[in-house]
Amino acid sequence: MLSEQELAKLSYPEAPKMVTDRIPGLNTQAYLDGSVDFESMARGGGRFPLVFEEGKGATIKDPDGNIYIDITAGVAVNSVGRCHPRVIEAIQQQMCKLMHAIDFSNVRRTDLARKVAEVMPIGLQNNCITYFTQSGSGAVETALKFVRKITGRTQVVAFHGAYHGVWFGGNSLTTGDQYRKGYGPFLPGVIHLPYPYCYRCCFGLEYPSCNLQCAQYVDYVLNTPYTGADDVGALIIEAQQGEGGYVAPPAEYFQIVKKACEKHGALYISDEVQAGAGRTGKMWCIEHAGVEPDMLTWGKGMGGDMAMAGLTIRKDLAAQIDDYSQPNTFAGNAVAAAASMTNIDILTENDSALIKRAAELGEEIQSWLKEGAADIRVIGDVRGRGLMIGIEMVEDKETRAPLAREKVEQILIGMLQKGLVMVPCGRYGNVFRFMPPLVLTRAHARKATEILLEVSKSV
Ligand SMILES: Cc1ncc(COP(=O)(O)O)c(C=O)c1O
Repeated sequence: MLSEQELAKLSYPEAPKMVTDRIPGLNTQAYLDGSVDFESMARGGGRFPLVFEEGKGATIKDPDGNIYIDITAGVAVNSVGRCHPRVIEAIQQQMCKLMHAIDFSNVRRTDLARKVAEVMPIGLQNNCITYFTQSGSGAVETALKFVRKITGRTQVVAFHGAYHGVWFGGNSLTTGDQYRKGYGPFLPGVIHLPYPYCYRCCFGLEYPSCNLQCAQYVDYVLNTPYTGADDVGALIIEAQQGEGGYVAPPAEYFQIVKKACEKHGALYISDEVQAGAGRTGKMWCIEHAGVEPDMLTWGKGMGGDMAMAGLTIRKDLAAQIDDYSQPNTFAGNAVAAAASMTNIDILTENDSALIKRAAELGEEIQSWLKEGAADIRVIGDVRGRGLMIGIEMVEDKETRAPLAREKVEQILIGMLQKGLVMVPCGRYGNVFRFMPPLVLTRAHARKATEILLEVSKSV
C-alpha cells in the first residue's frame, strides 16, 4: 500500500510556493535570455518562460526559488518522479562500475532486456527481442526499417493526429503542420487514416451508436480491392494519442483494427512511447484493449529520468533481422539501463501498486475536473485513462470551436504564476495534458485541479 505520507517525501511538500512577485523572476529571465542566445528554438519548450533548476518528485524549483507543481512529468518521462532516491542510488552505484560499452553486451543492458521482456503485454511477454535506442524517435525509426525487412512490403498505415517523432521516418507518420511544412517530401507509402477522436468525430457520429465506423473504415481500406493499400507491411498507432490531443478511443476500436491487420498480413505496432510505462493505469496502454501487438515502441517513462528507449518485437519476427544491420553507438548505456531497471521495479513492485494508484487517482481527478467544469464555459471535454488526462478547451461548449491560442496561452501563464506547470497538445493546441509523475500526492493533485479550474474560469 502506498501511503500519501511516503509519497509526499518525494516532492517539495510546500509546492506551490512563489517567492518572486513576477514570473519569470530575474535569475530565470537571465537563463531564458542565455537560452535564446545559444540554443535552437526549434526544440520543444523553447520559449516557455520557465527554467528548471531542481526537480523532486512531482515538483520543480526554478533559479529564483519558486516551487511549482509539475503536471508535465517532463512530457510523460518522470513516471516515478524526478530524482527518485532509489534511481539516484542505482545510478551512483553503476557509474562507479561501467557507463558506456559501445553497442557490445554489458551486464546491465542484458538485465534490462530481460526485465523489459517480463513486463511486455501478452503476445510479446517473454517472447521478444529488444533493440535499445536513446529516444522514442529512434525506436520508431528502427521499427519502420525492420518492417520492410520482415514483410518485404513498403506501405505503412498511420493516423491523423499521430506523433511518432521528428526524424525522417517517424516524421513521415507524424501529422502536425509545424513538423511537416517545408520539410517534405517524406517517406513514400504512408497512408494516414482518421484516428477515433470521438469528441470531433470526422464521420459526424456518436459512440456507441456509430458502431465504430472509424475502425470499420480501417478494415475497409486494408481489405478491399482498389483502395491503394495493397502492400501494407505495418500499422502504427498510439493506444491513447499524445501530441494529437490526449484522445482515448474505446477499447473495441483496437480489437477491430488488429483483426483488420491480421487479415491483410500487416504487423501491428503499438507506439507506447508516451502512453506506456504505467501512465494510463496499466503498464501498457494497449492492455486496456487486450490486443497483442507484434511490435511495441517505448521510451520516456521507462528510463527513470534517463534517456532509455527501445523497440521490442516478437521473437519469430526478430529472427528475420540480419546480425549487425542496425548498430547504435550509445545504445544500452549501462547507467541508463541501471536507472531504467530501478524505475521499472518501482512501477511494478507490490503488484504494480503505483500503476494501480495512477488508475484510481486519475479517475478522482477526472471527477473533480468534470464537476468543476460544469459551469466553466471554456472546458469542453475531460477524457483519458489513468494519469494521462486531456482537458479540451473551447470557445463554446455547444459549437466546440477550439479555444483561441492567445487564450490558451493566457491560461498557461496564469497557471504558471500560481505555481502550476502544464503543457498543451492537440491539433488546435487547445488540450491541456494532465500527465504528472505517478507519485503526485492527492493534495498536490487537488491543488493543481483547483488552479486549473480557477484560471480557466477567469478567461
Ligand atoms: C507516441 C510517441 N512516439 C514517439 C515519440 C518520440 O519520442 P522522442 O521525443 O523520445 O524521440 C513521442 C514523443 O513525444 C511520442 O509521444
